[in-house]
Amino acid sequence: MNEVCSIAGDMVRWAVNTTQWIPTDEQLNCCLAVLPPSEWSSVLRFSSKDDRKRALMSRLLQRKLFHDLLSIDYDSIRIERTPTGKPYLVSVPNARLPHLNFNVSHDGDYVVIVSDPVSLVGTDIISRHSHSDLLPEKLFENFTTYFTPFEWMIIRSGGPDSDSMLDQFYRHWCMKEAYVKAVGVGLGFELHRAEFHYDKDMIWGDLAHVYIDGIVATEWQFFLHKLDPEHWVCVATGPPSVRPSSAPAVANNDGESCHRTVFQSRSFTFLRVEDVLKEFGLQAASYDCGEYRIGADSENERRESTAPLSSS
Ligand SMILES: CC(C)(COP(=O)(O)OP(=O)(O)OC[C@H]1O[C@@H](n2cnc3c(N)ncnc32)[C@H](O)[C@@H]1OP(=O)(O)O)[C@@H](O)C(=O)NCCC(=O)NCCS
Repeated sequence: MNEVCSIAGDMVRWAVNTTQWIPTDEQLNCCLAVLPPSEWSSVLRFSSKDDRKRALMSRLLQRKLFHDLLSIDYDSIRIERTPTGKPYLVSVPNARLPHLNFNVSHDGDYVVIVSDPVSLVGTDIISRHSHSDLLPEKLFENFTTYFTPFEWMIIRSGGPDSDSMLDQFYRHWCMKEAYVKAVGVGLGFELHRAEFHYDKDMIWGDLAHVYIDGIVATEWQFFLHKLDPEHWVCVATGPPSVRPSSAPAVANNDGESCHRTVFQSRSFTFLRVEDVLKEFGLQAASYDCGEYRIGADSENERRESTAPLSSS
């Protein structure tokens, strides 16, 4: 087995709860200055502070991931996006994990990030609170064509208006999204083409597989995690060969054969906001903007020249 097949530690599953983090505009500004200026607008495009916080944490976690797994200096990490939006690390010569794939999701209280050393990976978190106050059947009307008749049967099997029916709905939602995000196709995929089945034909489970256009896709696995009573996360892993042509080509035969050996679940590790900030030289109380550990010179220049976050 190739060396990269066996590194479970490279299958990162991190979750950060951002609800207790209530930064001032100035503190958010400090955090933003840690990122390359080209990333600022992707945080500032949100008008709500909650969305800004999550987008910011997403970008900090992406950097922490590559710093921790590949020992890349923060200043040398370059993350770009495919034309459909999936972020990827711009390749690094002689990187320890040439097939490393990752994905991020944020919703409700959490930002989650996952990585896989060989497989394509996608994740979606869904907060039951943030999507609707509608009664289930009213909510479902907006999504009729997104799910197949089989999936609606499973979703409704919990009984009308029951909590488990909503749980099933959101679990299927995040499985679809995790698949779409692993492949990286964004909004261009007709969601009803992917039909999800729990393993062993159960009507409830934490492991699932997918049929695409009616044909089982045996190399895909879907792992469901309940982070807390309000948040479901799905992690999808699939073969690197389905990477869309627009994505950087890093898959090769090693990646394919490794992928088949790495079907395993992994639970999420909860990171604290303050510990993530600390990594970037941002101390919890004031964020201590004067003392960046990373790229101090260039960051100071940036801070003097521009104030990324205008008061809102
Ligand atoms: C953009 C999309 C990829 C995910 O959107 P989302 O669920 O609102 O957002 P999430 O928080 O789960 O994911 C956002 C992250 O996904 C990543 N991402 C963006 N485009 C991506 C793509 N094409 N493929 C994979 N990942 C992508 C980014 O890292 C982004 O976070 P960042 O900007 O902080 O880096 C897209 O699938 C979408 O908008 N889906 C909504 C479609 C829908 O209505 N689904 C109903 C489900 S049944």
